[in-house]
Amino acid sequence: GSSAINIPRNPSFAKLNSDDISYFRSIIGDKNVIEDEDRLSAANVDWMGKYKGSSQLLLLPKSSEEVSKILHYCNSRKLAVVPQGGNTGLVGGSVPVHDEVIINLGLMDKVVSFDKINGILVCEAGCILENLNSFLENEGFIMPLDLGAKGSCQIGGNVSTNAGGLRFIRYGSLHGTVLGLEVVLANGTVLDMLGTLRKNNTGYDLKHLFIGSEGSLGIVTKVSILTPPKLISTNHAFLACQDFISCQKLLLGAKRALGEVLSAFEFMDSHAMDLVLSHLDGVRSPLPASLYNFYVLIETNGSDESYDKTKLEAFLLRSMEEGLILDGVISQDINQSSSFWRIREGISEASVKLGAVYKYDLSLPLNNLYDIVEEMRARLGEAAKVIGYGHLGDGNLHLNIMTSRYDDDVLAQIEPYVYEWTSKHKGSISAEHGLGLMKANEIHYSKSPETVQLMVDMKKLLDPNGILNPYKVLPQSFFN
Ligand code: FAD
Ligand code: MLT
Ligand code: ZN
Repeated sequence: GSSAINIPRNPSFAKLNSDDISYFRSIIGDKNVIEDEDRLSAANVDWMGKYKGSSQLLLLPKSSEEVSKILHYCNSRKLAVVPQGGNTGLVGGSVPVHDEVIINLGLMDKVVSFDKINGILVCEAGCILENLNSFLENEGFIMPLDLGAKGSCQIGGNVSTNAGGLRFIRYGSLHGTVLGLEVVLANGTVLDMLGTLRKNNTGYDLKHLFIGSEGSLGIVTKVSILTPPKLISTNHAFLACQDFISCQKLLLGAKRALGEVLSAFEFMDSHAMDLVLSHLDGVRSPLPASLYNFYVLIETNGSDESYDKTKLEAFLLRSMEEGLILDGVISQDINQSSSFWRIREGISEASVKLGAVYKYDLSLPLNNLYDIVEEMRARLGEAAKVIGYGHLGDGNLHLNIMTSRYDDDVLAQIEPYVYEWTSKHKGSISAEHGLGLMKANEIHYSKSPETVQLMVDMKKLLDPNGILNPYKVLPQSFFN
């Protein structure tokens, strides 16, 4: 079943007619104007199978000029659109709510340039993250972000969600690594902000408005991004801890002891581990699975094989002596390393196997980051399976609640409780996934009324007809 979000269609939007289709064919070519039912049904539903729209049209532009013509036309006709990348978003932002035209950037997948001296990549927004990383590895560089969806997600989607992921602890936010963007506005204006400089204080830095705006202010068509060098030495440790406080102390220790080589610090509880082991084929735990309460995956990445390894081993030994770690394995080869990552990255895939999943992506102060998981487990009892995992190094908890089907009674037990709890503890209701459709009405838990009002004003300035990704990000009540 679908999730229970019932938003009426905004009647100010036009309905698609055959003249519209003919026009789109004339500007982007017949074969990239998709009305085929199978392709539309795939583009109408999100990765979790939770949010479903009923769009009749999917457009596949090949250039910024084509995106510009499409938006210019849709704006003058008041046809609503939803920008779509790899459609891996987890908050219902990448699929239509009603009959919005889907604009997918998948054919815009060219590398424009790579500057090997400065490590600056310029590419089209539809490039798949993993392909960019492979391209860069051949040049001796890597992408500054990595996530489980790398094989499908597009850099334009990453920028539009301000995706965090597994390398955030080392290379920081896209607000730091993205140097420039090309964006097409709702009226078709192509905004060239495609700078390649580290420093450029010439007035308002408008690219930041589009990073994390989830397709509500413009369509990102090109990205300029700073890429770190690929370092030769990588180590992985998979560790077991008795309790959450040990994970927390281990993190502080790792930051101090591993310093500049620390490149990932991920955690999961035993419930997340059990879920992966029981639902994904061929995944085995490197440690006895039912013995421990928490697991931590640490990665180091540096330039000196023996120095890095010595550093890691000394840190692990000390942590074991202090009782922070109960058990652990250091990876001996690439295969073992990828088996560690398979467990952590497999949680998303496993989380949709029970039938229904309610995903919460919270930023919280470290000291009570895990409390909400225990509270929800107690609150829901047998009615649901509750797991906690995430990017502990960044203070980002993923709380997932799974049931056999979507159920309003279960949802009423979870929301608004989780949001109120998060707000009370000065957290954020979205650390990295965005608001999308799921949390558009919940923005006030994390932003003040004045801030939300300014966002609404900016949305109205940039997109006066409201055609870009309607019903998402901001409460619909501002637009009726
Ligand atoms: P989509 O899902 O297609 O779109 C996401 C949003 O961006 C939508 O609102 C859409 O309208 C908009 N959009 C897409 N492309 C454009 C564009 N060119 N211009 C303007 N707007 C656009 N997120 C994290 O932050 N960290 C993680 O570790 C992480 N891991 C994941 C693991 C898995 C297995 C999955 C399925 C998802 C994960 N995600 C994670 C969530 C998701 O946000 C990211 O996968 C990714 O950033 C979305 O990119 P996409 O190309 O699939 O965008
Ligand atoms: C992750 O860190 O695994 C992701 O953000 C995706 C998810 O929570 O499913
Ligand atoms: Zn995540």
